[in-house]
Amino acid sequence: MDRTLTLLGIESSCDDTAAAVVRLDADRPRLLSSDVLGQIALHAAFGGVVPEIAARAHAERLDGVVEDALSKAGVALGDLDAIAVTAGPGLIGGVLSGVMLARGLAAATGLPLIAVNHLAGHALTPRLTDDVDFPYLMLLVSGGHCQFLLVEAVDRFRRLGGTIDDAPGEAFDKTAKLLALPQPGGPSVEEEAASGDPARFQFPRPLLDREGCDMSFSGLKTALLRARDTLIAAQGGLTRQDRHDLCAGFQAAVAEVLAIKTARAVAMAGVQLRAVCVAGGVAANRTIRSGLEGVAARAGLPFVAPPLRLCTDNAAMIAWVGIERLRAGLPVELDFVARPRWPLDDRAPAQLGSGKKGAKA
Ligand code: KG4
Ligand code: ZN
Repeated sequence: MDRTLTLLGIESSCDDTAAAVVRLDADRPRLLSSDVLGQIALHAAFGGVVPEIAARAHAERLDGVVEDALSKAGVALGDLDAIAVTAGPGLIGGVLSGVMLARGLAAATGLPLIAVNHLAGHALTPRLTDDVDFPYLMLLVSGGHCQFLLVEAVDRFRRLGGTIDDAPGEAFDKTAKLLALPQPGGPSVEEEAASGDPARFQFPRPLLDREGCDMSFSGLKTALLRARDTLIAAQGGLTRQDRHDLCAGFQAAVAEVLAIKTARAVAMAGVQLRAVCVAGGVAANRTIRSGLEGVAARAGLPFVAPPLRLCTDNAAMIAWVGIERLRAGLPVELDFVARPRWPLDDRAPAQLGSGKKGAKA
């Protein structure tokens, strides 16, 4: 189909205020603009995202971010075919800020408004960046999420498993905190680990003995805390090498668990996959990435990791879901509501204890 579609995407479900314009031209996606305004500094003093502060910041900044995205794309509202907005899951105040702005724009222009699931945005990104065909495996690993999805169609996702407690990014952040390293923890732990010996400390590989591809990461930080305290008790503090080795041991444990469980998810999918894909901030980690690459290679499958700016929260992925839905002829839901929780796979059992950090996915 050679229809041209130009969509504005709006994302405000956690602590990034984002807008983007994506065009489908001769069946090829083109990213015309993608603006992301983060809020790390606003929440830094509180040790986590404060929903009220996030919602207010979104409300104040969304207009400007949308204007910026349109002007960078060289597109006027009248050039759009539709608007796509994150309608959940997420922190409800932020989601509402985005939905209200999008409703206003749609009412003023008469454009269709498409309600997008934020997780579908992450899950469908490999099709925006690498034209991956269905079905494929998606490992979503971020600060608030960790799950394996079998992506079967634009609107069909099967959850194969995921964390039963912390997300890996959260574990990296807590590890950094325990070792007095800067936040976000992932990049600092990775940097420390580069000069460390991953074999000096044997950290647990939780749930490997359990069938399936569920994971657990909360025990890892307790093990790290114990190792740290044992060293401090014995020597009165930590040497730089201790810190390197602790980070390397922790990172090796996370990478090994993710790789082994990914191999299991490939086997559990029960269909001929087209690719193994990863998204989320943790996908930036080179040790984790190369572990997953190895799994894909052994399964004879391509490994697809979108560029980091499209792996982490952004609005291009939201616009893209809108395009995918229109292209697939799915109906535009007129009467949607903003939803704090919105599982992609309704058939999967509710995850007790997951998503403790809140909504960031
Ligand atoms: O996807 P993202 O930007 O936001 C969430 O949706 O959570 O992911 C942020 C998370 C943080 O926990 C951060 O520590 C982690 O991704 N992260 C990393 C690395 N870079 C970011 N974790 C491990 N290694 C990295 N290089
Ligand atoms: Zn996300």
